[in-house]
Amino acid sequence: MQTERHLDITLVEAIHQRQSIRAFRPTPVPKQRLMEIIETARHAPSWGNTQPWEFAVVTGEPLARIKKGFELASEKSNWNPDINPPENFPEPYDTRRREIGRKMLEIKGIAREDTVRRRWWALQTMQLFGAPAAIYIYTDRGYMLQGRTEPSNIWPAFDCGMVAQNIMLLAVGHGLGTIAEIRAVSYPNVLREVLGLPDSKVFVLGLAIGYPDMGDPINRYRSPKEPVDAFTKWYGFSEPSKR
Ligand SMILES: Cc1cc2nc3c(=O)[nH]c(=O)nc-3n(C[C@H](O)[C@H](O)[C@H](O)COP(=O)(O)O)c2cc1C
Repeated sequence: MQTERHLDITLVEAIHQRQSIRAFRPTPVPKQRLMEIIETARHAPSWGNTQPWEFAVVTGEPLARIKKGFELASEKSNWNPDINPPENFPEPYDTRRREIGRKMLEIKGIAREDTVRRRWWALQTMQLFGAPAAIYIYTDRGYMLQGRTEPSNIWPAFDCGMVAQNIMLLAVGHGLGTIAEIRAVSYPNVLREVLGLPDSKVFVLGLAIGYPDMGDPINRYRSPKEPVDAFTKWYGFSEPSKR
């Protein structure tokens, strides 16, 4: 990825170039670029055009406070995101996610039993892999909870995913790298406190954003993707489906 602006890349190129970035350069991201990205990204679809997303775009001192706050919180308690992470991963999902985890540790040269360095890596994740900016995506607690205690309306999270993907693809055209992270919202009380947001807002996802450090081998890893035939059946076409 280049740092120069190259907005003329095609959507297909952006999709192929986007990858989760896990090492960033400290170079600040100009507000204007983030503004342009969000200006376009907001055209995402959503349930009944509800557009349930809200963004906190953060850099500099407040981001430093969030990163420090996450470090302190993680020393005291387990992560506690507003939307529960899955408790179980049925196959084949478990194998796939384990493979990513294993590969990351292998590239970083961290042994499975090395709890100190694994903790360091977890902290890197929570602290956005050095990204100088973040877009925290949040929504209304009442809309998501529907009067219950557990999130029972998944659709605002789905809609937030739509706009998040727009942001990540548009970022590529600005020479910026991103990673979507549940870990970035794993201590939402820290976020609410630093950002001055009420309890009525729930954090869905954090996007780390910045110029990628392509010298770091972690960013040269490309996650494997299933071939089309592995997850697609075709109906009504003249050529019969293979499955
Ligand atoms: C909802 C969501 C949450 C994620 N949370 C994390 C995270 O907390 N830490 C992390 O390292 N990657 C996280 N990722 C990135 C995935 O690991 C990554 O998208 C996946 O391995 C595929 O790689 P790719 O993005 O390079 O295609 C998350 C992705 C999504 C969509």
